[in-house]
Amino acid sequence: MEEDILDSNLQKEDLTDLNIRPESLDEYIGQSEVKENIKVFIEAAKMRNEPLDHVLLYGPPGLGKTTLANIIANELGTKLKTASGPAIEKSGDLAAILSTLEPGDVLFIDEIHRMPRFIEEILYPAMEDFTLDIVVGNDTNTRSIKIDLPPFTLVGATTRAGDLTSPLRDRFGITCKLKYYDEDELQLIIERTSRVLEMPISHSASLSLARRSRGTPRIANRLFKRVRDFALVEGLSEINDDITDKALDRLKVDKIGLDETDHQFLRAIIEKFNGGPVGIETIASSIGEEISTIEDVYEPYLLQNGFIKRTARGRVVTPKAYEHLGIEYQNRLF
Ligand SMILES: Nc1ncnc2c1ncn2[C@@H]1O[C@H](COP(=O)(O)OP(=O)(O)OP(=O)(O)O)[C@@H](O)[C@H]1O
Ligand SMILES: [Mg+2]
Repeated sequence: MEEDILDSNLQKEDLTDLNIRPESLDEYIGQSEVKENIKVFIEAAKMRNEPLDHVLLYGPPGLGKTTLANIIANELGTKLKTASGPAIEKSGDLAAILSTLEPGDVLFIDEIHRMPRFIEEILYPAMEDFTLDIVVGNDTNTRSIKIDLPPFTLVGATTRAGDLTSPLRDRFGITCKLKYYDEDELQLIIERTSRVLEMPISHSASLSLARRSRGTPRIANRLFKRVRDFALVEGLSEINDDITDKALDRLKVDKIGLDETDHQFLRAIIEKFNGGPVGIETIASSIGEEISTIEDVYEPYLLQNGFIKRTARGRVVTPKAYEHLGIEYQNRLF
């Protein structure tokens, strides 16, 4: 059980992901504001010989939260223990994890917004005073015991900072919001991956991949690996524009990185709901996707790009999206 909680995150990543994951702040591309701040806080914590204050990382999936948590532990020169919010079901699960910590360790809790409320409450004194208050015994005879914990740093990651309760949010001394990466940064990430995986890519091909990565390093790396497959099978020694276009057409990723689901989502609103406004539940069921997947994975990028708007009455597709899809826009009220 404990094994499960601690390892569930690792299993998600395959070996190549581990290879291409940067291990130090210097290797971590982009997010310069976050990086500069973290650098200072880490240095100060080391100078005081105290653990780093608790860190909350938030932002859309695939922007580098888990990577940054690992880097923080590396830079501190301590170990990282990983747990996942939804996998901590009983107070004993959390106690088991906390009891494995050594002084200065980093405890990384992924998807921290999905941790049960009563577990969260056990975490408060652990974060504030490094103590664990647990109730032991059976129905007729219970008592509460206090256990001292070594000083540690909690790094929490969430795609939805809004879902965190405010008592939990307030206990993080450092809060970092990760942003979508720009084209240049994604291009550097792709070129770095190309070096690590020893498959050269031309400058223009890496730019074209960067443009189609939705501001997200995970997607950039995933697209790179798929294009690499096509290049390998065709016997190319370098990824060029042709093979990139061919592979991405086959993967149904368009020129700006929208995939089939994005297209379905936008087309459903346009074709079935006259461009909106329409509620997220209605769209989700009409295209057979989970509401949470749409909200966490698809919408943030479409919103950021100005393809949809959120209004009080639901989602509305913008003229820009009509244009991108090649559908004529009839003047509507927003
Ligand atoms: N700043 C960066 N520089 C280089 N590569 C990066 C950077 N950030 C992320 N990556 C790459 O992108 C991949 C995805 O990052 P990561 O797993 O850290 O995202 P995440 O924010 O934890 O996503 P999720 O919310 O889904 O857990 C990593 O395997 C890593 O190789
Ligand atoms: Mg992660």
